[in-house]
Amino acid sequence: MFAIRPIRLLVLAALLATPAVYADDTKGDAAHGKELFMANTCPTCHSVAKEDNLMVGPNLVGVVGRQAGTTLSLMGPSENLKKYGVIWSVETLDEFLTNPDAKAPGTAMIGILSDPQQRADVIAYLSTLEK
Ligand code: HEC
Repeated sequence: MFAIRPIRLLVLAALLATPAVYADDTKGDAAHGKELFMANTCPTCHSVAKEDNLMVGPNLVGVVGRQAGTTLSLMGPSENLKKYGVIWSVETLDEFLTNPDAKAPGTAMIGILSDPQQRADVIAYLSTLEK
């Protein structure tokens, strides 16, 4: 009985620790997302300053909630993204950023975030860029 007790405690500790890990998985951290956005060269092609449409990719201010491919950029409106046809949300951005070319074949968008937590963080950051 006494020999088993420490093991039981360990199991209990592991069980208690697990839900916290899952909670972290599903929730994005916007501050960390901003760092990731900068570190993954997203700003090379995307402005996050209002009304600045002079970059290769669309301006990302207000991206959550808008129709894909409707924002101007140096390259004009995006036919690939218009065909894709989604409204950008946490879910559609998550799918797109996993592999943009799989969702919008031929797209010039090369930003890929393969790590689910990093995607959640970057999407949380994008959600803060309101008009
Ligand atoms: C080399 C330039 C380039 C880089 C780097 C890049 N993108 Fe893009 N992105 C584009 C282009 C161009 C489009 C428009 C796609 C098209 O025309 O097919 C786009 C489209 C998007 C869209 C959809 C915008 C809309 O209004 O429909 C999102 C969201 C996006 N990019 C996020 C990101 C993120 C996040 C990163 C960094 C991980 C990133 N991009 C890195 C060029 C880039």
